[in-house]
Amino acid sequence: MNTSKTQQALTQQALTQQALSRRALALAAAALCTGLAALPAQAQTAKLKVGLMLPYTGTFAALGTAIENGFRLHVAEQGGKLGGREVEFFKVDDESDPAKATDNVNKLIKRDNVDVLIGTVHSGVAMAMAKAAKDSGTLLIVPNAGADAVTGPMCAQNIFRSSFSNWQPGYAMGDVVAKKGHKKVVTITWKYAAGDESVRGFKEGFEKAGGTVVKELNLPFPNVEFQALLTEIAALKPDAVYTFFAGGGAVKFVKDYAAAGLKKNIPLYGAGFLTDGTLEAQGADADGLFTTLHYADGLGTPRDQAFRKAYAIGYKLQPDVYAVQGYDAAQMLATGLKAVGGDASKKAEFAAALRAAKIDSPRGPFTLSAAHNPVQDIYLRQVKGKENVSAGIASKALSDPARGCRM
Ligand code: PHB
Repeated sequence: MNTSKTQQALTQQALTQQALSRRALALAAAALCTGLAALPAQAQTAKLKVGLMLPYTGTFAALGTAIENGFRLHVAEQGGKLGGREVEFFKVDDESDPAKATDNVNKLIKRDNVDVLIGTVHSGVAMAMAKAAKDSGTLLIVPNAGADAVTGPMCAQNIFRSSFSNWQPGYAMGDVVAKKGHKKVVTITWKYAAGDESVRGFKEGFEKAGGTVVKELNLPFPNVEFQALLTEIAALKPDAVYTFFAGGGAVKFVKDYAAAGLKKNIPLYGAGFLTDGTLEAQGADADGLFTTLHYADGLGTPRDQAFRKAYAIGYKLQPDVYAVQGYDAAQMLATGLKAVGGDASKKAEFAAALRAAKIDSPRGPFTLSAAHNPVQDIYLRQVKGKENVSAGIASKALSDPARGCRM
């Protein structure tokens, strides 16, 4: 579908939904008149209920919106249907709050009876979603959260990820930082699964290549009172700093790091979320930073260019890694559903199709591991102006070790 058609499709989604509910009512009335028991005749012809559980408020709000935009873009490109079924959305704002996660996911599973869950950004919330998906057998595609456990000990036939594991960008950066000649590194992150696991991945890669992590600094999620920790970094004088922050927190960290006078003396490296979707707000304070991620600006492939053009036209925004992950979650869902004729209850066949698939992502093609996590290239990127420009591939076809996954 060309871009203007996609735009039309995006704006016509609401109208189509009204028309479809009228059609469903008409079908129901007809069936009542003729005394038919089951309708519409096949589950596959009913609407596909997609439950979006994403953050729409808080430090990750922009990330949730980008994921939804990406997902909707692919649906629109398919004429509003996946696996031959019209898509109907149900939405919950998870607020990136693990304490509310089980109640929130059950709204989608038990109240709305969704066929598939798409969510979320925050690793702690995603783990609660994975547990609920595993217990209920509902399909789940995680379009961001890197919690290693989701494709580790919690792995399951009905659970997939279109994004990354926290280990992946961290591990790749460990090698990069060692090869740049740094020996002693301090890490700083939020104290929760994503921060801990990103640092653990970095440490594994860095120490394997001969470096030492001399101190691990933390603060609670989503706090942004960095000053005392920045003072500690200045006193420790490491060769470099590795960090995991994202969203609003990443904007403030990069600005505070520069304002504290550290940027010119102690090079800052990070998992790519540090500078993705944040560059407008970070301005010159982000310039020159190196990060590792499974996406970069200016890849220049026809696939990526077409995606970026359609996204920019559809939303009047530049896409980022989150938009790509949302788009690919929809592509994965479409691939699985196509193999089962739209019948989301055929879990084994759905999973087999995805395990055999090559997903034609804007990031570059990727496959899924046996644990259902992307096996993908991790780019080294450098901030130049408003872009995370690729400086090559840091780790080719990197597969998460999937420790603890028994499927
Ligand atoms: C996570 O909690 O797993 C997470 C959150 C934001 C990111 C990346 C990972 O940008």
